[in-house]
Amino acid sequence: MLAPPMLKIALDYAYAMRDGTPGGLDRVEFDRAQPSFEAALDAVLAKVTDGTLGFWDAPADAALGKAIADFAARVPAEVEDVLVLGIGGSSLGTRAIMNALAGPPELTYARPGRRIHLPDNSDPWVLAELLRLLAPGKTLALAVSKSGGTVETAAQVLVVREWLEKGLGAKWTERFAVVTDPNVGPLREMARAHDLAAFDVPSNIGGRFSVLTAVGLLPAAMAGLDVAGVLRGAASMAEQCRSRQLASNPAGVLAVVSTLQHRLHGRNIHVLMPYADSLRSLTAWFVQLWAESLGKRTDRAGRTVEVGPTPVPAIGATDQHAQMQLFMEGPRDKILTFIDVKERPVDLPIPKADGAFGYLGGHTLLGVLDAELRGTRLALARDGRPSMTVEIERVDAEHLGALFFLFEAATAIAGELYDINAFDQPGVEAGKRLAFGLLGRKGFEDARKEVEDAEACRPTSYRVAT
Ligand code: PA5
Repeated sequence: MLAPPMLKIALDYAYAMRDGTPGGLDRVEFDRAQPSFEAALDAVLAKVTDGTLGFWDAPADAALGKAIADFAARVPAEVEDVLVLGIGGSSLGTRAIMNALAGPPELTYARPGRRIHLPDNSDPWVLAELLRLLAPGKTLALAVSKSGGTVETAAQVLVVREWLEKGLGAKWTERFAVVTDPNVGPLREMARAHDLAAFDVPSNIGGRFSVLTAVGLLPAAMAGLDVAGVLRGAASMAEQCRSRQLASNPAGVLAVVSTLQHRLHGRNIHVLMPYADSLRSLTAWFVQLWAESLGKRTDRAGRTVEVGPTPVPAIGATDQHAQMQLFMEGPRDKILTFIDVKERPVDLPIPKADGAFGYLGGHTLLGVLDAELRGTRLALARDGRPSMTVEIERVDAEHLGALFFLFEAATAIAGELYDINAFDQPGVEAGKRLAFGLLGRKGFEDARKEVEDAEACRPTSYRVAT
């Protein structure tokens, strides 16, 4: 699988095939999937063509790249901190970008340049500390919500708006921007009412597929990262993922191998395990993408199927000392996708040593990491435990953009192969409705009563307490 010169990325699935591991797919099983893959890809691309599915063409939106760069260039130099208020698809992709391209999160405060903060949850632990440490005069708040009404984000918006208003008075509006639906929703209304800077999440792009829009790219631009490179890498991968030949379509192979391993061999758990700390947050983004898109009660005909592979994040080599025992000897219900990064910006030579550590002398830390990946992958394969490896030349803007698109396209194709709608999330609505009732939202009065009645008659004898 080849891509333009700057982008060197390959998907090696030998260890997911019978030739590479006793737990692999038969070549015939794989080849037989060509027609269903073609139908799945055609169905996805038909939605792209008729405009119902926007994520595929997002990387080619040159106007967006320019608008983002212009806005970022106009942010006053005294803004040192950007507080991104968003959750789920409105936050995880941004965190993955920052983790990959802005350096180790642990060192955020030690680096020069603008800092991007992602409190994410409505647990006040992080946000309260940020509001204590940051200065309103040096901060810009960016509220990100496709719907504009997500409760956790709305709550943070109100808290941060009041904090800015206290510090800046009427000028708070100059330090508050939004990314939301182009036309509707409470955030869009707030932007109109206060003339706030506003960017769109296109109506045909769902939250978990929105990292390559202003959702992920605006914070990246404000941090001075290479947004054009991210888009270039994604666009290049988008081109490759149009191939109707399964064997030359990386997203197709990821989707087909995963779904066949699930359907034919019962491997309903998908572990994503990069051997790179810079891709740690990418695994959390992948978990949301895969889980919310593919975990569905009904198929497209409305039949109950309760389908969905469970995504599990892992990191090499750290998880060799945590989850690997389970992957290696536990139930044979998993397929792993490793990410192997070829070139790194830094390495540390290991000095010569005597005695028990002598074998390490002359190697480097990256040499250790590489040996561990190769050893682990082979040990799994020999025991009939399949894996694939996404090989990327380096973690830079282009390769990150390509990775985002690869997993998005694989998810969309897998949705078609499972015959479910990968772009909705009806399962999260029931809990939200009850929470709205408890919070006293108009129109949800019944829901409040439902929770109170159910809690009042819940059995009390099943409780162990100190
Ligand atoms: O993928 C999705 O649609 C969700 O996970 C959303 O990203 C998440 O619920 C946040 O929604 P919103 O962007 O509307 O605030």
